Amino acid sequence: MFVTIEGVEGAGKSTQIQMLLQRLVRLGVPALVSKEPGGTPLGQELRSLLLAPHLSGEKWCPESELLLFYADRAQHIASVIRPALESGRLILVDRFDDSTRAYQGAQGISEATMDKLGEVVLGRLRPHLTLILDMDPALSLERVRARNAAAGNAFKETRFDNETLDFHTRVRKRFLAIAQRDPQRVTLVPADRTPEEVHEAIWAHLSPLLRSSGHPVE
Ligand code: TYD
Repeated sequence: MFVTIEGVEGAGKSTQIQMLLQRLVRLGVPALVSKEPGGTPLGQELRSLLLAPHLSGEKWCPESELLLFYADRAQHIASVIRPALESGRLILVDRFDDSTRAYQGAQGISEATMDKLGEVVLGRLRPHLTLILDMDPALSLERVRARNAAAGNAFKETRFDNETLDFHTRVRKRFLAIAQRDPQRVTLVPADRTPEEVHEAIWAHLSPLLRSSGHPVE
């Protein structure tokens, strides 16, 4: 089973993925966690190219950025996602194609362009379930800032943490539109709650799928 987790910065994806993984492991479900960008060794190199500040100060143009995210995804699908699915495991991916649709879309890349690249890179591959952790970016960016400040220099801000609130509001709107367009696959999970409440909401969506594929859920 292929499950993706999406959302604006600071919505709590990492915490939720860890909580979910622990529960799956406890139940004996063969599960694996990965992320984009950077789910492979070469992808890690692309991740630094994409997200770390550059000494030269040069910025990627939106089209280069788009192609690098898709290059990362192609590699990730070939060397991690497909092999996991073929071996019957549940793979939980922190960001996938909907992040491109939301972020690069908010940068002005058209849906038609992403459809074309998506056809090349994803083919017919789609997540069975996508959970979008939804939250007002005005609040979630505050969380990111507090986390960065508490970690001092150890936690560097990445490329999109520096974008404006207006940009992140557009990203959120795109996530909401994706959920509306594809309700069979995508579920919106309100994320301005306690981690335990968000986890239970996620579990309520995932457990029926697990049960129907023959896994114990309690
Ligand atoms: P990451 O540190 O994983 O952010 P977060 O912890 O918020 O998930 O950095 C990934 C960043 O890359 C995040 O700002 C979203 C952005 N991104 C895109 O713009 N397009 C994409 O296709 C993907 C996968 C991520």
